[in-house]
Amino acid sequence: MRTILVTGGYGFIGSNFIRYLFRQKGFKGRVVNLDKLTYAANPDSLKEVTAKFKARCTSVKCDICDHELVDKLFKKYRFDCVVHFAAESHVDRSIYGPKDFVETNIHGTFSLLEAARAAWADRKDVRFHHISTDEVYGSLGRTGKFKETTPYDPRSPYSASKAASDHLVMAYHHTYGLPVTISNCSNNYGPYQFPEKLLPVVLINAIEGKPLPIYGDGKNVRDWLYVEDHCSAIWRVINKGRPGRTYNVGGDGEMTNLELVKGICDALEKLVPSSENKALKGKRYADLITFVKDRPGHDRRYAIDYSRLRRELGWQPSVGLAEGLCRTVAWYLSNWQWVTLVRSGEYRKWEEKNYGGRGKTAARAGGRGRRNAR
Ligand code: NAD
Ligand code: TYD
Repeated sequence: MRTILVTGGYGFIGSNFIRYLFRQKGFKGRVVNLDKLTYAANPDSLKEVTAKFKARCTSVKCDICDHELVDKLFKKYRFDCVVHFAAESHVDRSIYGPKDFVETNIHGTFSLLEAARAAWADRKDVRFHHISTDEVYGSLGRTGKFKETTPYDPRSPYSASKAASDHLVMAYHHTYGLPVTISNCSNNYGPYQFPEKLLPVVLINAIEGKPLPIYGDGKNVRDWLYVEDHCSAIWRVINKGRPGRTYNVGGDGEMTNLELVKGICDALEKLVPSSENKALKGKRYADLITFVKDRPGHDRRYAIDYSRLRRELGWQPSVGLAEGLCRTVAWYLSNWQWVTLVRSGEYRKWEEKNYGGRGKTAARAGGRGRRNAR
């Protein structure tokens, strides 16, 4: 792989993937990161890798929906591979405003596919890898896991837009012979995750002594995947996966949201005991747990069967949830400046407009179903 186009490389998983790539001894190519720099982007996440690999890591500000510019970049850089992360990625935002999700996730993917189809008409030594989610499969009951053959049943505007993009990607394979692969992964966690997703919201609020908002009864289950494991799975699929095939990626990390939040509180007690954190005013971290109004259409349980990836490509996750949580909490604590930077931008404006500040999320829903977990 000589020149790789990474879309959304200033985001959580994209930036982890670029760092992962430059750690691989066998990787001698270059990366062009194409990112619109939405609220979720943080150029600081790539600062070190860009400085160290100046000649091999470039970023271009570009909206993937801008077909003309995307086309031009394909001609300029002659990409050999596309790793497509760029997306609107937060379910709650898709409930407040689905338009950007339809634009970026569907039209943006379409624009990339068209550019790849035009640029790669006579090439077979290329790959279009699309990052998707387990949320396209819908919601599980108490038992069972999502397989690659599970019928799509998306429930939120976010998952519906991802499902649409998955179908487009596969259609380009069947219709035009584009060498595509898709990976559908479960909830990622780890360094550099934007503070709107559960884990960083809880961690940061806890440190600041603010309520830890848990939607509904806290018994929704997610299958947590350490982001570096996800990156290694993507790289394996790109190098060894079969064109036209989908691979599920999971972390063997099923847990209810309430258990996860308690796990974060426990990890924090070990690293920054609440008794030494003045923001806690004598409380323990777990005392901050606050049940808030449920998310509309909240999927109950996700669980991933990644046996195809294990059997066919020999991949399996290497970081267990307990270990991954400790690493993640430790990373945020020693990178507080990143948190400050990422919260200083657009996110704050959106948060103020919609929630009146994240700390007030619980209060906003306080009238209905607010109670303490312990
Ligand atoms: P993120 O929200 O942290 O980052 C998204 C990045 O894409 C940002 O840098 C943003 O600026 C960029 N972007 C958004 N719209 C763009 C546009 N129109 N043009 C160019 N760039 C644009 O997202 P993430 O959590 O890193 O997720 C990456 C991918 O993984 C997404 O496709 C998401 O659906 C998928 N995924 C994420 C998770 C998870 O747990 N985070 C789980 C399953 C699948
Ligand atoms: P999230 O991190 O938004 O990922 P996704 O919706 O893609 O699974 O949410 C993970 C789970 O945590 C989900 O069940 C919703 C829940 N949640 C809360 O309970 N409180 C919160 O503040 C957030 C952001 C999520």
